Amino acid sequence: METQQQFQILIANETHLDFAQIICDEMLSSAKARGTGIAKRSPEYIQQKMREGKAVIAFNQDGIWAGFCYIETWSHGEYVANSGLIVAPAFRKGGLAKAIKKKIFELSRKLYPESKIFGLTTGLAVMKINSELGYEPVTYSELTQDDAFWAGCKSCVNYEILMSKERKNCMCTAMLYDPKDHYEPEETKQFFEEKKGILERLLRIKQWKFLQPFLKKDKEDNSTKMVQASKRRSLLQYFFNL
Ligand SMILES: CC(C)(COP(=O)(O)OP(=O)(O)OC[C@H]1O[C@@H](n2cnc3c(N)ncnc32)[C@H](O)[C@@H]1OP(=O)(O)O)[C@@H](O)C(=O)NCCC(=O)NCCS
Repeated sequence: METQQQFQILIANETHLDFAQIICDEMLSSAKARGTGIAKRSPEYIQQKMREGKAVIAFNQDGIWAGFCYIETWSHGEYVANSGLIVAPAFRKGGLAKAIKKKIFELSRKLYPESKIFGLTTGLAVMKINSELGYEPVTYSELTQDDAFWAGCKSCVNYEILMSKERKNCMCTAMLYDPKDHYEPEETKQFFEEKKGILERLLRIKQWKFLQPFLKKDKEDNSTKMVQASKRRSLLQYFFNL
């Protein structure tokens, strides 16, 4: 399928297995560059998604890999997550993420018509894309409570924050599309446009507020436990580039 951005956006299959490594590498380096957390994925996991037909992959007209996203199911299929969205840096800001998210959303609706579709993100771009598809922001209590899903956050740098909030909140904003009870995309899009200034400020406040206990802790036992200290330093590095 050819889009207006001259990208091919395909449902991934066996022929794409060799791209799993570059996809994982880009996910990790993009998270580091943004200074945000990420649930790490292995190339084998990405390959499994390709084999199952539960991923979308994009290439430019010369066959260069350009983007990716995949589907996960939780709570015995009650929930579907569209995860691991990544666009290669050279192809950003051209509407590719939007096109990939649309394709994976359509695939999710086709494979799991009854499931609630959700995503977690720290980024305004993804919040905007989700809003255009009809997702609305929700509290974490409306997401799957499947332990296996939350276990995926263990590899994220913010996991300590998630657990200190008893899994009720963290740096990410949760968004959900419920096929049985949802606003129309025009409504969620309008909501986002009206509130995006506030949402952006809230994302910043959230980061500042959630980090306070960790900063205090850092001051209090400054000189103790080298292992803990190095852990905190990496947390600080992630958020304040120290
Ligand atoms: C986030 C990401 C997927 C966006 O990809 P992209 O192809 O550049 O996004 P698009 O061009 O489709 O942009 C979609 C919308 O978001 C906006 N946008 C894109 N990047 C943005 C940013 N950094 N900040 C705010 N808005 C942004 C675009 O302007 C566009 O809005 P428009 O419709 O008004 O033009 C890409 O930057 C990326 O891969 N980042 C690293 C991984 C990541 O953050 N993944 C998301 C995990 S939840």
